[in-house]
Amino acid sequence: MPTPPKQLNLSPATRAVQALHVIDEKTGAISPMIDLSSTYARDENYDPRQPYIYARSGGQTVRHAESVLASLEGGAASLLFASGMAAVVTLMETLETGDHVVAPTIMYHEGMNWIHRLCEKRGIEATFFDTTDPAALADAVRPGQTRIVWVESPTNPNWDVIDIAQTARIAHDAGAILAVDCTASPPSTTQALALGADIAFHSATKYLNGHSDITGGVLTCANISPFWHELAKIRNMLGSVMAGFEAWLLIRGLRTLYLRYDRASTNALTLAKHFEGHKLIETVLYPGLPSHPGHEIAKRQMTGGFGGMMSILIKGGAAQARDVSRFTQVFVPATSLGGVESLIEHRKAVEGPHSIVADNLIRLAIGIEDVNDLIADLEQALERAE
Ligand SMILES: Cc1ncc(COP(=O)(O)O)c(C=O)c1O
Repeated sequence: MPTPPKQLNLSPATRAVQALHVIDEKTGAISPMIDLSSTYARDENYDPRQPYIYARSGGQTVRHAESVLASLEGGAASLLFASGMAAVVTLMETLETGDHVVAPTIMYHEGMNWIHRLCEKRGIEATFFDTTDPAALADAVRPGQTRIVWVESPTNPNWDVIDIAQTARIAHDAGAILAVDCTASPPSTTQALALGADIAFHSATKYLNGHSDITGGVLTCANISPFWHELAKIRNMLGSVMAGFEAWLLIRGLRTLYLRYDRASTNALTLAKHFEGHKLIETVLYPGLPSHPGHEIAKRQMTGGFGGMMSILIKGGAAQARDVSRFTQVFVPATSLGGVESLIEHRKAVEGPHSIVADNLIRLAIGIEDVNDLIADLEQALERAE
């Protein structure tokens, strides 16, 4: 009798590349079929063929993408959404009137706008805390009333790195769950659940997909709990699920996540080192630089690279920062991050007049191009805008 196959303990990178080694049983296709069906026929006994009933609760391609994500994240299950914000709204929808939520003073601005809206319209209470003050979170939580602690790491646009393990302890001591926005630090570098988070959130529009051609969001839970079922129920009622074609593109994008993230991180570190101390630049904010306040935590928490996100504060004001952002020829002047192409934006102009971001801050999302082209491009734009 042949010996049974040895069970291999595959690395996440291999699981991502092979999308969990799913091969179509009938055809042998190694690229999955796209399930675009909106509804599913019952069987000969008129029983629903679980788990596919109606596409608003997720079809086959969506479930496949969710399985890959849960596996990479080390979670029990993932839920995919039509955008990052759809996932945020679904999570916040679990709050009841009188509940308290804690979030950072600097976070993704539309997420913050949604929390403000809940406070105004639904009687939710919120406290925003300064992530640079170690005692601020402990002061912000209200034991018994705080339901969700939300943090983002690294935090846009200063790229402060939040100590997830410490944050989880404070949240749990107060009886709250911790949800971490890991959009800028995908599972190839940060394992938020292993660090103690209950939910890892990503805008899948960014690194997870990586090709600037879908919007998506994902919530991955450490456990399949009543809370997870509540999230699935709300997604079903809101109709905020990702569609099949987008899920297929996401599976395709995830195959190269580890390669893309690694290259973006290497490019970003080279570029950050080149421009730190440059005569036209005041500061480079990048967690991979020893000068960055979050560098020590980043070394512990971002084990697969410091990522492609950085900000530069140029010498000059808003006008020069805008000019640099429009004079580049390789960097694309667009919002977003995590795609293969490098993007540049004058963050204040994007966020609007109420933004507290510095006038001279330019946000760079470093892609996977030849880093020498990126450096040369930024050099010429800086000189032209001087
Ligand atoms: C950190 C972060 N969180 C959440 C979001 C929202 O995601 P989406 O644009 O996919 O709705 C974004 C989008 O830019 C983001 O950068």
